[in-house]
Amino acid sequence: MKAIILVGGEGTRLRPLTYTVVKSMVPVVNKPFIEHVLRQLAAHGINEVVLAMGYKPDSIFEYFRKNSTLDINLTYSLEEKPLGTAGAVKHAGSQVNETFFVLNGDVYTDIDYTDMLNFHRRNKARATIALTRVEDPTKFGVVETDQNGRVLHFIEKPSADKVTSHWINAGIYILEPEVLNYIPEGAFYMFEHGVFPEMLEKGEPVYAYINRAYWIDMGTPEKYHQLNCNILGGSCDSPLHNGDKIVIDSSSKVHPTARLTAPVIIDANCVIEEKVELKGPVVLGKGCLIKKGAVIENSLLWDNVVVGKGASIINSILATGVKIKDKIQLEGQTLNQEHGGSADTK
Ligand code: GTP
Repeated sequence: MKAIILVGGEGTRLRPLTYTVVKSMVPVVNKPFIEHVLRQLAAHGINEVVLAMGYKPDSIFEYFRKNSTLDINLTYSLEEKPLGTAGAVKHAGSQVNETFFVLNGDVYTDIDYTDMLNFHRRNKARATIALTRVEDPTKFGVVETDQNGRVLHFIEKPSADKVTSHWINAGIYILEPEVLNYIPEGAFYMFEHGVFPEMLEKGEPVYAYINRAYWIDMGTPEKYHQLNCNILGGSCDSPLHNGDKIVIDSSSKVHPTARLTAPVIIDANCVIEEKVELKGPVVLGKGCLIKKGAVIENSLLWDNVVVGKGASIINSILATGVKIKDKIQLEGQTLNQEHGGSADTK
């Protein structure tokens, strides 16, 4: 079974992190986000994947060239200019001649893809859209269905007084190859505003797979932080981590007087000095140095971060190479070495 994953967006909402790292490659529990998605797919036998890329594709190529442990046949479709969600699929899917999945590349879910496919086939759907429930649907595309799950209407970003449903488009689709006929070649085109409404107008069988699986769009610093905490805390299934514990790479050194409260994950070659406190959820990437007496709480540190003596880092994200001076107190910050990190680091 084939899937096309859309990873071509600029990830502007996840800045400053995406100034240096493309959204699909930001580390989630120390592995690139896209690797989590690929492993979830592989677990359901979806092992032919096309990454539809545009913005900054090189780091993705390089990572998978060096890390080929995935049981997936991975290919790439590169856009010269952004083609939108549907245009990108048309570009990537020229060879598709059977049912296939399409995924927004910033969604993390433990949805049962196998069950979704069975639902699609049972209904003889031309397109099936996974729906997820949110408390506030006013920033999303709301989908109304009949009792059998057949889609009746799409309502884009309804105002609070016009909310008729809390079920939104989750950015996960199963499509028949004929759906590609709705998408013009080489043009910017979207599923949400273009393809799906047109299919409804033509009376095509478009179905909604309503489910309560874990779902998050990790496209903002807050949601990205939440996803890491949820995986570490075990509130969603992950093929790369199984919940609430302390995991320390054998090459890292943790001083015996340091105090660690789960969940904490420490990657290779880190040094945790005396009397440091790590109050989970905490993730440290490779080569981090946490100096004497520093406190880190509910925070994500990427590779080669240095935290000075007695500093305190709470509810924060520090990207690769950020250096924090002694005794600095940070709370609720997202810092990137090149953009915004320097003021606190000298
Ligand atoms: P923001 O700039 O923060 O809104 O992020 P984005 O544009 O990266 O993401 P958005 O939520 O708008 O898009 C949903 C998914 O579709 C993301 O995984 C994007 O990478 C992807 N995407 C959006 N536009 C394109 C495109 O033109 N081509 C491709 N290949 N993917 C796209």
